[in-house]
Amino acid sequence: MAKQGETAFERDLTDRGYSRRQLAKATALLGAGAAAIRITGAGAQQAAKAVEGAVRIGANECWTGPFPVAAEAAMQLVTQGNRYEPDDEHAKLFAAVAAVENIPADRIVAWPGSSDPLSRVAVAFASPTRGIVTANPTYEAIWRTGDWLGAPVKKVPLTKDYAHDVKAMLAADPHAGLYYICSPNNPTGTITPIADIAWLADNKPKDAILVVDEAYIHWTETGTAASLAATRDDVVVLRTFSKLFGMAGMRLGLTFAAPDLMKRMMRYDGGQVTGMLPMTAVACGTTSVAQADLIKARRAEMVANREKAITHLKKKGIKVIPGSQANMFMVDWGKPAKSMADALLAQKVQIGRNWPIWPNVSRVSVGSSEEMDAFNAAIDKVWKA
Ligand SMILES: Cc1ncc(COP(=O)(O)O)c(C=O)c1O
Repeated sequence: MAKQGETAFERDLTDRGYSRRQLAKATALLGAGAAAIRITGAGAQQAAKAVEGAVRIGANECWTGPFPVAAEAAMQLVTQGNRYEPDDEHAKLFAAVAAVENIPADRIVAWPGSSDPLSRVAVAFASPTRGIVTANPTYEAIWRTGDWLGAPVKKVPLTKDYAHDVKAMLAADPHAGLYYICSPNNPTGTITPIADIAWLADNKPKDAILVVDEAYIHWTETGTAASLAATRDDVVVLRTFSKLFGMAGMRLGLTFAAPDLMKRMMRYDGGQVTGMLPMTAVACGTTSVAQADLIKARRAEMVANREKAITHLKKKGIKVIPGSQANMFMVDWGKPAKSMADALLAQKVQIGRNWPIWPNVSRVSVGSSEEMDAFNAAIDKVWKA
């Protein structure tokens, strides 16, 4: 018999005679993160299904795959696929990241994307008595994990400049276990100044953890919170290769934090998730992070594509939330976002969703130049003020 709040996973085990304690063991065996992801949805699980023949600018993916030189590095590992780890691939990744980010290699851990560590920080650092504080709108995976765990979640509106309101976030729950900042923020693409992030680190309760999600950091040049994770023992920075590096389907992400915090995050599964990464993804990531010129060029290409679409919308008198420094922007249609998304889909352009706090505002991901031309043409067809 299904009990309220019980997941299919729990129901299956309790129906077959598992006790609560044995159920907890089974969850640990399969990985806390793996269980959490079923609740929160990983990036890929959240992305809308592809519609045949449609331009896909809805899921904040990159319009193209890994840099060719990085794909070549992955291919080398395909040919050595008989070995679990042919030649210290993990260590090479950590050394490459440490050099680029100027942080100690022992403060870097790799994951299959950043969805797992994002759920995991909630399990590790929040609880029913020590809640979670986030912005609103922001990336909701952490809300869902908090709800699932029974940890209270406070959602604080962005400032008028669409930054995180760090003072209001602290005031919303001065005793939280976890404060979450996403910068650049999904879905607005706007940044929160590093000085504000550092302020929250300095002023939150000493035993609370500040999590800074930098999934979109490579699309901006305004600086990173990596140095906080490198020097403090209460800050976790999350990174992913799913965005600028074009590796969403290959699955690779990173956490930067003090070794003790990483240990606390891994104690649920003994490092099982971090220990089972495909070497192809690890090698692809190692080569990707070192490509400063290619990163710059891809960012510049995205900015040009983004601004082309924004200029077009503005010319038509359509309001765009200002300040995006990422591969997405938000359009305020002044009418229900769902109706505009449906109208554009009928023109074979698949844009993103809206957030409950802003029902008239859609998130649009930035695709290739041709894809943004298709978006502009579809707008011409469907827009009626
Ligand atoms: C802000 C943010 N964090 C984390 C993720 C998780 O992505 P992944 O698991 O592919 O790293 C996403 C995906 O869209 C995101 O937007």
